Amino acid sequence: MTEANARPTIAVLGAGKIGEALLSGLLHGGRSADDLLFTERYPERSAELTKTYGIRCTDVPTAAKDADVLVVAVKPQDIEPLLDELAPVVDPETLVVSLCAGLPTSLFERRLPAGVPVVRVMPNTPMLVGEAMSAISPGKHARPEHLATVEDMLSAVGKVVRVPESQQDAVTALSGSGPAYFFFLVEAMIDAGILLGIPRAVAEKLIIQSAVGAAAMLVETGEHPVILREAVTSPAGTTIMAIRELENHGVRAALLAAIEAARDRSRELGAEHEAH
Ligand SMILES: NC(=O)c1ccc[n+]([C@@H]2O[C@H](COP(=O)([O-])OP(=O)(O)OC[C@H]3O[C@@H](n4cnc5c(N)ncnc54)[C@H](OP(=O)(O)O)[C@@H]3O)[C@@H](O)[C@H]2O)c1
Repeated sequence: MTEANARPTIAVLGAGKIGEALLSGLLHGGRSADDLLFTERYPERSAELTKTYGIRCTDVPTAAKDADVLVVAVKPQDIEPLLDELAPVVDPETLVVSLCAGLPTSLFERRLPAGVPVVRVMPNTPMLVGEAMSAISPGKHARPEHLATVEDMLSAVGKVVRVPESQQDAVTALSGSGPAYFFFLVEAMIDAGILLGIPRAVAEKLIIQSAVGAAAMLVETGEHPVILREAVTSPAGTTIMAIRELENHGVRAALLAAIEAARDRSRELGAEHEAH
């Protein structure tokens, strides 16, 4: 990274769904295509991405040489061959950012040259529409400036928080899987519309816009969700009848148990990687 060009050159290793979303977000956020690189296994995919975004596809040794930041975005099960390729070519000054769910920073620190700074990220799929929630954790050698670089990069595709790595399993259960819980809820509410005789297309519109509106109110008012819910829950009205049924069916307890189960599964998967 030169003084004149304070923004680092970023290489995305494995430009699949998440990798492409990041590259696209960085371009939208004003980065130049000349400061971005990616690696991919299939020539057709590389050609498609280069055509769409004007970003250069390269190989791992060139990415390691030319980039200040290496973003690892392969599936966790594909990490070993990539680490084999990276280990001999990574400079210990190069920042390695892992988007791989469940892989601890210690895995990268063990397999890559001593002292290499590693930042672990748990993003989520709304990165595809520039609304990701990403939680970042420093490895042993990552300094505040490395975290700042990652925050700057990820803020192009959504919001970012810092958490200790010990909380990454909980984050995976909350925001990593979080969008799936909302999709599940929306799906169930649309079914309720069908039950009440509303055409599917109308039910979808009613529920999706209600979800968007509720999310916007949470963000824009900054009010606690209880306050916002109380505001639409009038005495002996319709909403309280629904709330009583939600409580009768243990929906709150179900969410607590579901998210705890997701956290436990994330721990289990992480332990499998530690064992290798
Ligand atoms: N999607 C999510 O919801 C989500 C959320 C949080 C975190 N993540 C993490 O983000 C990472 C990427 O997920 P994804 O959904 O984007 O997966 P994906 O679409 O499968 O993308 C991975 C890409 O990396 C390529 N690849 C694999 N090994 C490679 C290598 N050695 N060199 C170059 N390219 C290689 C794959 O090519 P092939 O097509 O040949 O396999 C594929 O295009 C995962 O580690 C995942 O845990 C994903």
